[in-house]
Amino acid sequence: MITTTGLTKVYRSRGREVTALDGVDLHVREGEVYGVIGQSGAGKSSLIRCVNLLERPTAGTVTVAGQDLTALVGRGPRAGKELRQARSRIGMVFQHFNLLSSRTVQDNVELPLEILGLSGKERSSKALGLLDLVGLSDKAKAYPAQLSGGQKQRVGIARALAGDPKVLLSDEATSALDPETTRSILQLLRDLNRQLGLTVLLITHEMDVVKTICDSAALMEKGRIVESGTVSELLATPGSELAGALFPVSGEPSGDDRTVIDVTFHGEAATQPVISQLSRTYNIDISILGAAMDTVAGKQVGRMRIELPGRYEENVVPIGFLREQGLQIDIQGQQPVLVKDGAK
Ligand SMILES: Nc1ncnc2c1ncn2[C@@H]1O[C@H](COP(=O)(O)OP(=O)(O)OP(=O)(O)O)[C@@H](O)[C@H]1O
Ligand SMILES: [Mg+2]
Repeated sequence: MITTTGLTKVYRSRGREVTALDGVDLHVREGEVYGVIGQSGAGKSSLIRCVNLLERPTAGTVTVAGQDLTALVGRGPRAGKELRQARSRIGMVFQHFNLLSSRTVQDNVELPLEILGLSGKERSSKALGLLDLVGLSDKAKAYPAQLSGGQKQRVGIARALAGDPKVLLSDEATSALDPETTRSILQLLRDLNRQLGLTVLLITHEMDVVKTICDSAALMEKGRIVESGTVSELLATPGSELAGALFPVSGEPSGDDRTVIDVTFHGEAATQPVISQLSRTYNIDISILGAAMDTVAGKQVGRMRIELPGRYEENVVPIGFLREQGLQIDIQGQQPVLVKDGAK
């Protein structure tokens, strides 16, 4: 649904150059919620602004719903007609809502419909329908200043949906909201994704957001995507930074001469019998340092940090046994062998 190839953005100001995007290949499938995560300055906002051509990329292409947007002329407010039309099918939700304070809630939602040239009656029925969809039908005549942050963001989402977009882009839509409101906005995005088949590309710096609603995720660092995949793929990738951050387990080894292993298991796979079998077969004492169960992308996942006596070299055989049971094993303190997307 959204594909970028070699997407590069270099900002030039006062003789200085900043490479915000450095060859980003992104692929968002139709109907999925895709999260991009990364530290401040990693290039997340630049990516989203290039996807809807608010910024013209320095190099590379952006294809949305089969249309190569980079081939269309203009950018930002000076976009040509074709690009404006293509952009009206891409909804955008902002961190600070960007509502017009002098207009009522309904008039804010109607704004993009005015630009699309709908009649007053069409606009009003469409706007009221959208406000109903986001749970705000009773606030149509209110002004933005009379709304809570969560309600403002609902208006922002209704406005983003005005052009019947196939794609919704969201840049930190929940980072100005408290945790409970965040949850309700995420739930709304998830519902819209399911009900309308909307493809959602969202930027966040919160792992919880990814955990709650994303089907896939990518980690950005210094303008590049360094890891990406479906959440289950990431969780099944040994040494994945995103998986570790999505699903942290803690626990410190009890001494130097120990091997610490993180065991990840999905769904029904129970670790308990495996751990006791391991203990019996090899006659070793195993301590559990930490464990957690959680729902990630709608699936139950468990992770357990265990400690075996002796160094790694002495535990190669028991570790092999765990791997044979189909469990995913990450040895702590060992450099994982990992081919990252961006590391060419
Ligand atoms: N209009 C601009 N002109 C010059 N440099 C810019 C511009 N916009 C962004 N940058 C630079 O590009 C880099 C990436 O910025 P970007 O806003 O994409 O990061 P981000 O990942 O969204 O960060 P944050 O999490 O803080 O929002 C930064 O070094 C930033 O200073
Ligand atoms: Mg940003």
